[in-house]
Amino acid sequence: MKLKMTAVSPTTRPKLTLSNPELERKVMECLSPLVLTEDQQQKVREVFLDEMRLGLAANPERTSSLLMENTFIPELPDGTENGEYLALDLGGTHFRVIYVRMKNGRFSEEVVDYFHVPSEKRLGPGQDLFEFLADCIAEFVQKRNLGGRNFQLGFTFSFPMTQKSLDVGILVSWTKSFNCPGVVGEDAVKMLNDAIHKRKDLDITVKAILNDTTGTLVMGAYMDKRCALAMILGTGCNGCYIEKVERIEKWLGKHLESEMIVDIEWGAFGDNGVLDFIKTDWDRAVDDQSLLVHSYTFEKYFAGKYLGDLYREILLTLTKKGLMCGGKIGNLHTHGAITTTSVSRIESDTFKGLLEETKMVLNDVKLNHDDDDLHIAQYVAGIISYRGITLVSLITGILLERMQRNHCTVAIDGSLFKHHPRFRPLMEKLISEFAPGRSFDLRLAHDGSGKGAALAAAIAERLEQKRSLTNSN
Ligand code: GLC
Repeated sequence: MKLKMTAVSPTTRPKLTLSNPELERKVMECLSPLVLTEDQQQKVREVFLDEMRLGLAANPERTSSLLMENTFIPELPDGTENGEYLALDLGGTHFRVIYVRMKNGRFSEEVVDYFHVPSEKRLGPGQDLFEFLADCIAEFVQKRNLGGRNFQLGFTFSFPMTQKSLDVGILVSWTKSFNCPGVVGEDAVKMLNDAIHKRKDLDITVKAILNDTTGTLVMGAYMDKRCALAMILGTGCNGCYIEKVERIEKWLGKHLESEMIVDIEWGAFGDNGVLDFIKTDWDRAVDDQSLLVHSYTFEKYFAGKYLGDLYREILLTLTKKGLMCGGKIGNLHTHGAITTTSVSRIESDTFKGLLEETKMVLNDVKLNHDDDDLHIAQYVAGIISYRGITLVSLITGILLERMQRNHCTVAIDGSLFKHHPRFRPLMEKLISEFAPGRSFDLRLAHDGSGKGAALAAAIAERLEQKRSLTNSN
């Protein structure tokens, strides 16, 4: 019997309807650990709140998996930004160098160049990585005829850092696809400065180092003053928000400012085991095969670097159990054989009531399929995406409740948010459910990590001027 295909809304819970009811029951049962129950959702909420409390505490009774790190950015763009800035953006396989000119708080000119970061630089000695970055900056400055003047620079370094000031960022651990020896525990700004000064042809002052979420919040505030929360939903996943300093016990007495952007580093949520109650064998398999095992638990549940792999692992189980594709596993054993982009493509088929993309993805990994197999393939893409979106929406709801703003614009950047068709609509729906009555909107802050860094350099300059005025009075 041929099943009728109908378009499905991205906000509906994935449903499985097969021509074979017995097969349907078995598949649903096998995949049930991926469907978060109300109780589990409630527990995720409680655990996150507790980890936040511990992360902000002066003397926590145990270590939180949330870094809740000081970004040293107490202010947002105020429209007085003027001049030329450089920005760097490092976090993925492409490094970006950006030049911007600002006129009365608006970007009046911008130039961007991309440089591929080869794996030997992402995994080799740290010094080589920073020298490579300096080479790219020099190439950019030369090519764009920007030599002969001093540049103030903002450096987006999208990894967990402990900041000692706006221009000191000690790397806590590598994440995603980087693992260069000799950088953990070191100041990334110092390493960059050393590489820049070694060249002798660059005149650059690094004013600010920041996380990509921070850049996105700053960029979000440039677009809409009501922005107080930002996140990256891309290769990795993380968020930051504006916190009242009086609520950050661990900084009491250390800051005169009333508010500060706090980098949560929620990708690491659960690294201390607090989220194990939702962990499945497939999550364990994804972690085991990742570059940095036993770290970034939350991120590995759904971020772009891992969602395709999670999908592949689940299909591998289903085929091995004989529940799919006649029990043949095709290329499913190959790590990386299915990407997150493929999961997005399958999801868009679901929402259009089509099977074409789904067929192509299965063909690519050499799986023979009938209609039931295609429906299972779509169901799996749906439930893992639904789980990820539920998790990130739960956290967003908590932060909106915590900040109690009349309205909060949430700035978001990253490939998952941009290209996965379920993310935005379902997040809008679930956040409204999890934080009822809270007014918010989700706003794509395109290139937050790049332009946000340039804005951060401008803010750093302003803070410096204020400080020297106060000191001279
Ligand atoms: C990883 C990094 C984090 C970053 C996120 C998004 O989780 O540790 O710092 O913000 O990826 O790029």
